[in-house]
Amino acid sequence: MKRRTLLLGGAAAVAIGGGIYGWRRMMSGMHDMGSMPGMDHGMPGMAVAQPRISSLPEGRPLPELARLANQSQKPGEFIGTLANETARKEFVAGKSTELFTYNGMSPGPLIEAREGDRVSIAVTNRLKDRDTTVHWHGLDIPTDQDGNPMDPIKPGAVRTYAFDLLADNTGPFWYHPHPHADTPEQVYMGLAAPFIVRPKDDPLRDLAETTLFISSLSLLQDGRVAPNTMADLMNGREGDHVLVNGEKSPVLKVAPGSTRRFRIYNATNGRYLRLGFDGVPMALIGTDGGYLAAPIDGVTEVALAPAERVEVVVTFASGAGRTILRSKAYDRGWMGPARPAATDLALMTIERSGAEEKPFALPRRLRDIAPLGTHVATKRLELGERMGMGASGMAMSFMINGRSFDMKRVDLTSRSGDVELWEIANPTDMDHPMHIHGTQFQVVERERGGTRTSELFIAWKDTVNVARGETVRLKVKHVLKGPRMYHCHILEHEKLGMMGVLNVI
Ligand code: C2O
Ligand code: CU
Ligand code: CU
Repeated sequence: MKRRTLLLGGAAAVAIGGGIYGWRRMMSGMHDMGSMPGMDHGMPGMAVAQPRISSLPEGRPLPELARLANQSQKPGEFIGTLANETARKEFVAGKSTELFTYNGMSPGPLIEAREGDRVSIAVTNRLKDRDTTVHWHGLDIPTDQDGNPMDPIKPGAVRTYAFDLLADNTGPFWYHPHPHADTPEQVYMGLAAPFIVRPKDDPLRDLAETTLFISSLSLLQDGRVAPNTMADLMNGREGDHVLVNGEKSPVLKVAPGSTRRFRIYNATNGRYLRLGFDGVPMALIGTDGGYLAAPIDGVTEVALAPAERVEVVVTFASGAGRTILRSKAYDRGWMGPARPAATDLALMTIERSGAEEKPFALPRRLRDIAPLGTHVATKRLELGERMGMGASGMAMSFMINGRSFDMKRVDLTSRSGDVELWEIANPTDMDHPMHIHGTQFQVVERERGGTRTSELFIAWKDTVNVARGETVRLKVKHVLKGPRMYHCHILEHEKLGMMGVLNVI
C-alpha cells in the first residue's frame, strides 16, 4: 500500500507571499500599529486581549454525542425540537462558563435521519436580545427553510423548519446559526452540531463508527468565553483549546486489530486542521457530501479547512498500545500580530486494549457519483480584503468581486437546473474556505502560478479551501429556486463581508 498525504482543499499548498508581507503591504502609508488611535475599539465585538486560561483537563473518555430524539413513530419521518438557550459548564474546576447551547448541550444533539425522510424541527430562540436562525449546512433543501440571515428567529419566537431530504443528499452535514452579523459569536459560544443523513442502502452499515466533532474554545481567567480579539476578527478565531466532542484531548478505547469509521468535522470558526493517526494509513471514504465512489487507501494525512468534513476508515494495530490523532500546523496566511505558534496538537488518544478483533474488509464500491457534465454558464468570484481607517478606528473588510455583503442585494443569478463552472480566485494574503449553500458541488481543478492540476478524484463537497494565490474551479448545479448564500466559512470573514447572495430563478 502506497503511503501518501492527501490535502483536501488548498492541495499540496506551498506557502507563498506570507501574511506578514501582506500585512506590511496593507499597512504601508500608515504608522506604527501600536500607536494607532482607536485600534482597540475599532471593530464591533472586539475586546482588548485579556489573560486566558491556558490549560484544560485532558485525558477523559471521548463523550458520545447525544442524539436528538425523533418524536415521530412513522418510518420516513423525523420530528424534533430544539431550543437555543444558555447553559453553564465547568471546563475548569470552580470556574463556570456560560455557553450558548442547543437543548443545554454544546456540541448540540446529533440529528440522525435517512435519505428521503420528511424532517420537521421546531426551534425556540431563548437567547436574550439576539436573533438567530438554524442553517442546515450541506442539505439540499428549499431556500426559505435554510436559515438564511434574512429569515431571523426573534428572541422568544418559535420557528418550525420543515423539509424533505432528497435522494442521494447523504453525508456528514451539520447545523449552526446564521443570523446577520452574529454568526461567529453564536458559534464560538457553542452553537453547532452534526446532522447525519444515512443512505437507504448503506454499504458500511456493519462497521463501528465514531463521530468526531472538532471545535475550539478560548476562556478568560474568570471562566467566561473570550470575545474575539482583533487578530481573531482578521484571521478567523483559531481558539486556544481544540475540543473533540466538547473535550480536550479525550481518550477513545478500541479493540486491538479493530477497524473503525471516523466522521470528522472541522466546526471551528477559523482553525485549519491537518489530521493523521501517527502515520497509520487511513482509507478516505467520504467528503462533505458523503461517500466517495470508492475508498482511497493509504492516506496518512487529510487537511480540513473550517467547515469541511471527511470520513475515514482506520484499522488499528494488534496488541495493546496507543495511537494519537494529531493535527499538524498548516500555514494558511496571517495578518498582523498574534500569529499563533506553528505547533502540532494531540487531539485525541486511541487506546487499544482487551480482546483482539478482526479487521473489516472495505467494499471497493461505495456509491455512484456521476460527473456534473458540461457546463452551460460560468461565474468568476474574486476574493478581496481591505483594511482602512473607519470613523471609529481600524476597520477590516472582506469582499467578493469588490463588494462586501449586503443582504438586500443579489450578487449572482443562476437558472434552475443549469450546470455552471465557478472559478474562485484568491489573490489575498490568507486561505479562504468557500462554501455554497443548498447543494453539493464537484471540484474540477486548481490553478497556481499558471499550473493547473485536475482534482484527483470526484467527490461531493459544499466547502472548498481556496489557498492564497490559488484559483479553484468547480461545477455546481442549483435546482431549488430562491436566494442562496455563498461565503467564506472562516466565520469572522463571513461577518466582515465575504459573503454574497445567489438568486436561483
Ligand atoms: Cu455552515 Cu452559510 O454556513
Ligand atoms: Cu451552509
Ligand atoms: Cu476567509
